[in-house]
Amino acid sequence: MTEKTSPASTWRTATRLVRGGTQRSAFDETSEAIFMTSGYVYHNAEEAEQAFKGDKSRYIYSRYANPTLSMFEQRLALLEGSTYCMATASGMSAVFAALASQLKAGDRVVASRALFGSCLYIIADQLPKFGIQTELVDGTDLAAWEAALSTPANVVFMETPSNPTLDIIDIAKVSALAHAAGAKVVVDNVFATPCLQRPLELGADIVIYSATKHIDGQGRSLGGAILTDDQTFVEDHLTPWMRHTGPALSPFNAWLLLKGLETLSIRVKQHCENALKVATFLDSHPKVERTLYPGLKNHPQHELALSQMSGEGSTLVAFQVAGEKSGAFAMLNGLSLIDISNNLGDTKSLITHPSTTTHQRLSDEERAALGITNGMVRLSVGLEDADDLIEDLDRALAGIS
Ligand SMILES: Cc1ncc(COP(=O)(O)O)c(C=O)c1O
Repeated sequence: MTEKTSPASTWRTATRLVRGGTQRSAFDETSEAIFMTSGYVYHNAEEAEQAFKGDKSRYIYSRYANPTLSMFEQRLALLEGSTYCMATASGMSAVFAALASQLKAGDRVVASRALFGSCLYIIADQLPKFGIQTELVDGTDLAAWEAALSTPANVVFMETPSNPTLDIIDIAKVSALAHAAGAKVVVDNVFATPCLQRPLELGADIVIYSATKHIDGQGRSLGGAILTDDQTFVEDHLTPWMRHTGPALSPFNAWLLLKGLETLSIRVKQHCENALKVATFLDSHPKVERTLYPGLKNHPQHELALSQMSGEGSTLVAFQVAGEKSGAFAMLNGLSLIDISNNLGDTKSLITHPSTTTHQRLSDEERAALGITNGMVRLSVGLEDADDLIEDLDRALAGIS
């Protein structure tokens, strides 16, 4: 965990990403060091006692804090513009820590229903087991939020753009409704990244990331993060949760993610440029029944997407091909460049069939309510040349009978 430092907070985004949080060791290395240590040495017994009392700020144990993690946390906090950042071992451990650390039996959570499968599992299946009431709403429908938040709530959770349908939720308007109902707002900002969307500036209280995705950007490591300006949440809930339940990030992964941040903004810009070209191609293809891309004018929340996501339309495209599941499978199997994989945010383009992978656990009715059809595929557009991606998709779509 870290607090933003004043000189670096005047830097522009590119400088924050490359330089933010760097702390050189006694060896004056240019590339930040990996501190693969679980413990730290005290020079005498009194120093250990003071450290445990909290009288002396220093590293105690890597489940609590670690210098490589601190560099990653400081750099990400600078990018987000948040006071605090806590790194976690995966995106899901970030989601669970952000929710479970602050909720108790009798509390109430309202969430958008178009969520990544594991987030849905935590909210719809796990939290009720602990006596927490949960309600899911159509995140794009402000009247539905208003109705759900006419009853007091403790937490509002949303994912925007959503996985895989790329629904866009109005963070500012929902945050205002949530605060009036007494709830803290948690935003899963994985798809947008802090380069495109800063939920805290729009009124949210807590932002979570799967750093596994765009922050790493090369499919090498799992990681996550929780960012906030809420001191009470951090001191009373999140810090004890992190220290005592142990979802700490490995220093090696923190280093990969720290280095991933250095190129995040230029990667995201190029991913979006490629995604727009690919979406435009797909949208006019006869074998594509529907293209869902927030950067296209025909997306239901196009204007909101552009205003909320720095004028960009996302790094992912979802589309529905002719022929339902067999059409989608024929297309996936006909690709030679794009890889079939459920990961996303990689330099390599990755495609998945959500109804049989990430959202397989849901019933047909639940998937239908989310707009996940059997013909739908989700493409995480990589950094290859967009024309090569289009040629690959064109060949594969031609194979649908
Ligand atoms: C929107 C979203 N949130 C959270 C997660 C979970 O992240 P992780 O796989 O790092 O645990 C994912 C993973 O795909 C995701 O897409």
